[in-house]
Amino acid sequence: MHVFQAVSTNIAVREFQDRPLNEEHLRQILEAGRLCQSGKNLQPWHFIVVRDKQLLNGLADLMRGDLDEPVVRKAPVAIAIVSDPTSEFHVLDAGRTAQNMTLAAWELGIGSCFMSGPEQPDREPYREKAHDLLGIPDRLNLVDLVVFGYPKRRTVVRRKKRKELQEIASEKRYGNPLVLGES
Ligand SMILES: Cc1cc2nc3c(=O)[nH]c(=O)nc-3n(C[C@H](O)[C@H](O)[C@H](O)COP(=O)(O)O)c2cc1C
Repeated sequence: MHVFQAVSTNIAVREFQDRPLNEEHLRQILEAGRLCQSGKNLQPWHFIVVRDKQLLNGLADLMRGDLDEPVVRKAPVAIAIVSDPTSEFHVLDAGRTAQNMTLAAWELGIGSCFMSGPEQPDREPYREKAHDLLGIPDRLNLVDLVVFGYPKRRTVVRRKKRKELQEIASEKRYGNPLVLGES
């Protein structure tokens, strides 16, 4: 799969087949995360793989009432993306590493979705409890959970619901229309 094809077809997947992830697939997803670029090459991330059903249920319990709860409960695997806030670009870096994993997974026929848990103001208390459950040291931040699995349904994306390019890109100065001609 070409990169642009992966980018243009990849969507959030929240329903998975009831089967574990192939070990080699999981390794490849994690490698895609490991090999990501980062500010000053500090690699301020850590990935916690959660395949244990009891632990997935424990995380889902912390999300009780939120739409993410049943997704986490039924996911074959979740990867907690943890980052070190002493690194200036740690959130950007965590996002990039998650994107690498998501796209590498997509190429393997594996869907994924960020699971941020309860909305504010309950998000921070949830994160604190998730820290305890996953044994994350206080000096590190749980950025997000990403669930992965083989999609329950085959989803064909014809057109993504996204803002138009003219709305989100300018030339020279903010708001100055970008005109792209034919090449
Ligand atoms: C940073 C981030 C956080 C997200 N958090 C959640 C979430 O908590 N729950 C959820 O169901 N989807 C979550 N998503 C998935 C987005 O809602 C989804 O990608 C977006 O609505 C676009 O839909 P599409 O991927 O189907 O095109 C998140 C995505 C990102 C990038």
